[in-house]
Amino acid sequence: MKKRLVVVITMLGAVVVCLNIRPTLAEAARGGPGPSTMQRGQKIYEQTCLTCHQADAGGVPGMTPPLQKSPYVQGPAVKVIGIVMNGLNDGVEIDGETYTNPMPPFGTVLKDQEIADVLTYLRSHFGNKAAPVTVTQVARIRQELKK
Ligand code: HEC
Repeated sequence: MKKRLVVVITMLGAVVVCLNIRPTLAEAARGGPGPSTMQRGQKIYEQTCLTCHQADAGGVPGMTPPLQKSPYVQGPAVKVIGIVMNGLNDGVEIDGETYTNPMPPFGTVLKDQEIADVLTYLRSHFGNKAAPVTVTQVARIRQELKK
């Protein structure tokens, strides 16, 4: 009787493990960022960036630049990772509108994976089209910025 219980518990454990790794496997099989990356990225966007850049990523005229069809978001990964890590206080011009408010740094707030996820999400939403950002790229930039 006891043995059967152990078997049942072991099987349940296996099911739980399978359910947990399923999204990751699906992602790997598809060879690109899957829904879980996008879901995580969207959540980070909503929790961390939305207050300033707005729900539609349209920004606020004269205050916060848009992340829609942004040359920064779609530009080199190295540059946009740097903006999220270090913040930005250079001034930005997008569509003839200038922005001079500073953006705070998020390097200590967000982990490498979180930065990769939010940027991958942004680079495929809001009219942006650019390659995903990987956690390896983010880790490398973090190392370089430490030097
Ligand atoms: C406190 C407000 C605030 C928050 C929160 C914020 N930003 Fe920004 N962001 C700004 C401002 C202001 C600028 C313009 C900085 C400048 O003019 O130098 C900017 C600029 C940018 C730019 C470059 C310009 C553009 O429009 O493409 C990117 C990319 C960006 N932010 C991404 C993000 C991401 C990703 C997050 C969340 C992790 C985030 N920001 C959170 C205020 C904010």
